[in-house]
Amino acid sequence: MTFIPLSRPPVDDEIKRAVLDAIDSRQYVLGPQCRQLETELASATGVTHAVLTSSATAALWLTLRALGVKAGDEILVPSHTAFPTVEAICLAEATPVFVDTDEFYTMDLRDAEAKATPRTVGVVPVHLYGQPADLTAAQTLASRLGLWILEDCAQAQGAEWDGRRVGSFGRAAVFSFYPSKTLPAMGDGGAVLTVDDEIATRCRRLRDHGRVDRNVHAEVGFNLRFNELQAAALRVLLRRLDAMNDRRRALALRYVRGLAGLPLVLPGVRPHARHVYHLFVVQTPRRDELAAFLKARGIQTGIHYPVPTHRQAAVERFAPPPLPRTERLVEEILSLPISADHADGEIDRVVTAVRAFFGA
Ligand SMILES: Cc1ncc(COP(=O)(O)O)c(C=O)c1O
Repeated sequence: MTFIPLSRPPVDDEIKRAVLDAIDSRQYVLGPQCRQLETELASATGVTHAVLTSSATAALWLTLRALGVKAGDEILVPSHTAFPTVEAICLAEATPVFVDTDEFYTMDLRDAEAKATPRTVGVVPVHLYGQPADLTAAQTLASRLGLWILEDCAQAQGAEWDGRRVGSFGRAAVFSFYPSKTLPAMGDGGAVLTVDDEIATRCRRLRDHGRVDRNVHAEVGFNLRFNELQAAALRVLLRRLDAMNDRRRALALRYVRGLAGLPLVLPGVRPHARHVYHLFVVQTPRRDELAAFLKARGIQTGIHYPVPTHRQAAVERFAPPPLPRTERLVEEILSLPISADHADGEIDRVVTAVRAFFGA
């Protein structure tokens, strides 16, 4: 019985050659590969600037600082996200205001509106699992209340809303290149995308010790730079992003057909959204039993995420109120294996096992 991983990053000769060439170049930090990748990423997303960073967490923190966030500012954020989205808000010394989830696992914009106060400065829609949040509602809310939008696209490179790439709707957006993501590096990596010249300049400066010239530091930043080996690999993969996402979408359809008729909630696709299935998440009250059943058959699953961010000890001081939908769904969600590199036969094996679990 061969093991089926939750995710499988791509590795092939073209990627290896690009990395070897970058090694031979003897330029390793923020060199020509990084500069070209920044241009290509910005153009692929339909924005004017991309600033590569060491991770999406770093990108979020840099952007929040560039947006001028300060202590006491409130930021609307879905609780149902990876902890780094919230962590960056805390690191920027702002207050995360936790918003409940909608039926597509993304921020409920009505709840966001209800939680806005005169101290609210921005909103962070997270395009979770590869599906855009309701960006039309987010834009309406932001323009009515004078808020900025920072899109968290860590899980959704290549996803679209109304035919336009996510990452091009807010004042700024962040990407993650963690190896399981839709645009995967061979390690950590991230980027800030923006059409705002000032935000781009500030993020560039802050990621490199606040430096404006070799020995001139205009402010205190940090080392959050990116590197040439990863950029070289990512340039190869960026050219394949649409094909890789089409492959994920085809596998998702294979799941939807294979799992039809079971007592299982399958991922819904929001009108206007092009979902890229970073994760394929199903819902069942028998989640833990199903996960154990699949594990015994060599199939890895995941829970994204078992403890909602507003229930983490790290944010206790904000005394977040209960979020009933988020708290309910974290008991039932299960991520099944998916990536551009999974074979049809692997998805079929997962489908057969899930059907066997339900006695179908
Ligand atoms: C929605 C979301 N935001 C932010 C991050 C942070 O990304 P990174 O691991 O690149 O720092 C992640 C990582 O999983 C994520 O899923």
